[in-house]
Amino acid sequence: METGVFMEGKKNDFRDPPSPYWLASIAATDYPDLDRDISVDVAIVGGGIVGITAAYLLKEEGLKVAVIEADRILQGTTGHSTAKITSQHGLIYARLQKEMGEELARQYADANQSAIGLIAELSRKHHIDCDFSWRPAYVFTQSERYITDIEDEARVAAQLGIEAEYLREIPLPFAVQAALRFDGQAQFHPVKFLQALAEKIPGQGSAIFEQTAAVHLEEADGAVVVARNGHKVTASRVIIASHYPFFDGGGLYFSRIYQDRSYIVAVKIREAFPEGTFINAESPTRSLRSQNDENGELVLVAGEHHKSGHGGNTDTYYQNLVDFAAQTFTVEDVLYRWSTQDCMTVDGVPYVGNLTPQSPHIYVATGFGKWGITNGTAAAMVLKDLIVKGDNPWAQVYNPARLTLPSVKSWFIQNAHVAKDLITGKLQGLQENTEIPRGEARLVEIDGQRIGAYRDEEGQVHCVDTTCTHLGCELRWNAAEKSWDCPCHGSRFTYEGENVEGPAFLPLHHLEEEANQVEARIFS
Ligand code: FES
Repeated sequence: METGVFMEGKKNDFRDPPSPYWLASIAATDYPDLDRDISVDVAIVGGGIVGITAAYLLKEEGLKVAVIEADRILQGTTGHSTAKITSQHGLIYARLQKEMGEELARQYADANQSAIGLIAELSRKHHIDCDFSWRPAYVFTQSERYITDIEDEARVAAQLGIEAEYLREIPLPFAVQAALRFDGQAQFHPVKFLQALAEKIPGQGSAIFEQTAAVHLEEADGAVVVARNGHKVTASRVIIASHYPFFDGGGLYFSRIYQDRSYIVAVKIREAFPEGTFINAESPTRSLRSQNDENGELVLVAGEHHKSGHGGNTDTYYQNLVDFAAQTFTVEDVLYRWSTQDCMTVDGVPYVGNLTPQSPHIYVATGFGKWGITNGTAAAMVLKDLIVKGDNPWAQVYNPARLTLPSVKSWFIQNAHVAKDLITGKLQGLQENTEIPRGEARLVEIDGQRIGAYRDEEGQVHCVDTTCTHLGCELRWNAAEKSWDCPCHGSRFTYEGENVEGPAFLPLHHLEEEANQVEARIFS
C-alpha cells in the first residue's frame, strides 16, 4: 500500500509514484507473449474492458479469438477508472435527445442499462468475487444555474424509461440545489471482475497474448495484425480496442478524438460513507464512491480534468481533491492516488462499429468519454452482434461514421486548437537556468536542439528529444506523472522516452550523450 500522504493543514507531498487501488490490490496477470504466427476467427487488439468482454462473448458464440495486449491486460484506463457501473453519465440524456433525437438517446440509454445487466449477470453466473454491489447513482448540483438542467434530465430520463427520481437533497454532508437519482445502478472492482472473465478465454483455439504490441494492420480477405516482434495474427475479423486506435485506416480518428486527463484520490474517512455513487453537474467535477478494502472503507474522490498535455502543474489537481475531501469529511489518510486518460469524441458518444465504411473486416471501439465501464461493456455487446449477426439495436448511435452538426462544429474547434499547439509548441521558450532540482524536468537547448531533461530522485539526468513521434508536436512535462505529454492528440512518454499512451507508438529518441552534457552543466 502507498504511504499515506495526508497532512492536515499542509500542502501534501506527492513524491511517491501514483498507484491505482484497482491494480495495487490484486496481482497482475502473466499470459505469454506471441511467439509464432497464428490464425483465429477474431483478433482483438487491446486487453481492457472492451477487449476482454468481447473476447469472452465471442468465444461463447463458438468463435476462436486472440487478445493481443501491448502491456499486461487491464493495466490501462480500465485499471484507472472510478469503476461505477451506471447509465447516469453526468447530465447527458437531455443533450442527446436535443442533438441526436429521441431514438438515438434511447439507444444510448438501453445500451448502457443493458451493460449494467450483463456485468451483474456474469458476476453472478461465474460467482466472481469482485465487490459487486447495487448502488443508486446521484447527479447533483450546488449551483442554481444547473437546476433547470437537472429538471430537463429528469424529464428526458422518464421519457426514455430510466428509473429516476428528482430530489432536493442527497445523503452527502452538504446542501444541494437539485439532484437526480438513478436506481438499479452498481459499482465493483473492475480488475477482479475482468481478470476472472479473462480466465475463461484461453483454450479451444483461443488465447490471450501479453507484452505483444500490435504495430500494423493489413486488410485483404480478412485481416492480418502484425506485432512489433514480427509475428502475425491472421483473422477474418479484427477489433481495435486499444483505447486510442493503434491503426487509423483512413478513419481520421486523430482529428475526431481528443484525450482528457482526470484525477482520483482514495481517502480513509472517520464517518461512514452513504450508500450510493455521486457526481456533480458543474465544474470542477467532484465524483465519489466508496470501496471496501481489507483495512476498512475507502472513499474514492475523483474530478479535476484537463486536456492531455495542457495541465500546468498537475500536482495541483491531486491537492484540490484532497482539499475537497477534507472540507467534506474527516479525512484520516490519503492511501492511494492516480490519474487516468480518456478518449473524448467530438459529439460525446463513443465510436463503435466498422473502422470506416470501407473496412468490412475491421471494427473499432473508442471514445468512451470517462464512462467506459458501461459504454465499454455495451461496445463489446455491439461488436459481438455485428460480427455474429451483422446488426445490433444500438449500432446506429455508436456508428463511427455518423455526422451531426454539433460534431462538425466541435471538430473545427478541436483541430484549430491542435494547429495552434503545433505552432506554439515549436516557439515555446527554453529555460536558461541549467539547475534542475531532483524530481523535476526542464526544456534545454544543446547544439541548437530542443531537449527534455529530467533529473531523477537519485540525481541522474535523463534526456529525450521532445518531438512527438506521432505528428511532431512539442511535448510538455507532466509533473504529477513524471511523463512527457503531447498537447495535440495526447500521446504520453516516460522520462526515458518509452511510449505510455497513443496514438504515437514509437518511443522518443533517448539522448545519452546530451544527458551527460546536462549533468556536466549542473555540476560545473
Ligand atoms: Fe499527435 Fe503528438 S499525439 S502529435
